[in-house]
Amino acid sequence: MANAHSGTLRIGFIGAGGIAATQMQALMSRADVRIVAIADLDAAALETRGQAFCVEARYTDYRRMLRESDLDAVSICTPNKAHATATLDALRAGLHVLCEKPMAHSAAAAARMAETAETLGRKLVIGFQYRFNPRTQFLRNAVDKGDLGRILFGRVQAMRRRGIPNWGVFGRKELQGGGPLIDIGVHVLEMTHYTMGSPTPVSASADMFTYLGNQPSDRVQSVWQGWDWKTYDVEDLAVGRIRFDNGAVLHIESCFAAHIEKDTFNFQLMGSEGGCTWDPARIFRDEGGYMVDKVPGWLSPKTSWQDMFNAKMHAFVDHVLYDQPTIAPARDGLAVQKMLDALYRSAERGGREVAIR
Ligand SMILES: NC(=O)c1ccc[n+]([C@@H]2O[C@H](COP(=O)([O-])OP(=O)(O)OC[C@H]3O[C@@H](n4cnc5c(N)ncnc54)[C@H](O)[C@@H]3O)[C@@H](O)[C@H]2O)c1
Repeated sequence: MANAHSGTLRIGFIGAGGIAATQMQALMSRADVRIVAIADLDAAALETRGQAFCVEARYTDYRRMLRESDLDAVSICTPNKAHATATLDALRAGLHVLCEKPMAHSAAAAARMAETAETLGRKLVIGFQYRFNPRTQFLRNAVDKGDLGRILFGRVQAMRRRGIPNWGVFGRKELQGGGPLIDIGVHVLEMTHYTMGSPTPVSASADMFTYLGNQPSDRVQSVWQGWDWKTYDVEDLAVGRIRFDNGAVLHIESCFAAHIEKDTFNFQLMGSEGGCTWDPARIFRDEGGYMVDKVPGWLSPKTSWQDMFNAKMHAFVDHVLYDQPTIAPARDGLAVQKMLDALYRSAERGGREVAIR
């Protein structure tokens, strides 16, 4: 049962694959955290992570772990489809939860997760590490100060020329909820939405195309060869548009595979008083009769993958143990999930605009 006042956070993991390892590594520097138990369907994953992080209690059934281990919190690191059930089970066991991105495989599931956390008074945080990036914080601060004025338009791009994952189940819609849009588009979407000040989305439209990942991998080049093309039924390329209640509009482009020059992972905002790009972090304004580009003189260099994970994991611990506010609450995860859901729904309806409620 949760007792996060003992001064030590006793955490368990549900799913002990690749991202669980990155999370566990981030916790190694915390003297106030103990990884008490891990659960995974796969005995090999349990063995690997258990050995690497010295965790003795290993379970192939996470429900048994919830019953038997004395935990304060769990981190959910399973494929997307299992996020909701595992989160609900952990919340009902009285635990606080960090759930990896995307929050769930559907907005309905995400809504149940958020409501349950609220009803049971447990903390539910979504694993959105990009909002901890110093570039994102720099831009969000500018938006908060009004430097961009009213945000009119955002452009979100998470594009790989050829990067179809050859691990996990990232090509299976049933288990992931979708392809690049829900897997990598979600990263840039969540940080753009956060930077915009988390406006309420009201409608979306999208088109999606599958034309490379479902072909034999000896016919299609990719940086990670050997993905399971026979079970690949997600989109290769998604293009969409989202409207917000404050009149702002956002365009999103996301792909695992496309005929483009190079990968792009970036967003742009255009407002009534200024604009910005995320990479490099720049603000564009008119000042004193000149068009001015504002460049941060120094930003914390802590922008590596592991650095961002360190920030998100430490923030979760501080939120649970010391009641520090979180910048990645379940309501933001739900808003992002509603946008993703609506984009997929629209694509199924031939690109017709659909309402978001
Ligand atoms: N925040 C990020 O940048 C980031 C990066 C990669 C992955 N992720 C997310 O993390 C999650 C896991 O991705 P991954 O790359 O670690 O995948 P992975 O395939 O390496 O690991 C997933 C693990 O979950 C286990 N599993 C599946 N169903 C389970 C269940 N019901 N109970 C217990 N274990 C179960 C699998 O056996 C596997 O070991 C996904 O939701 C993914 O979107 C986030």
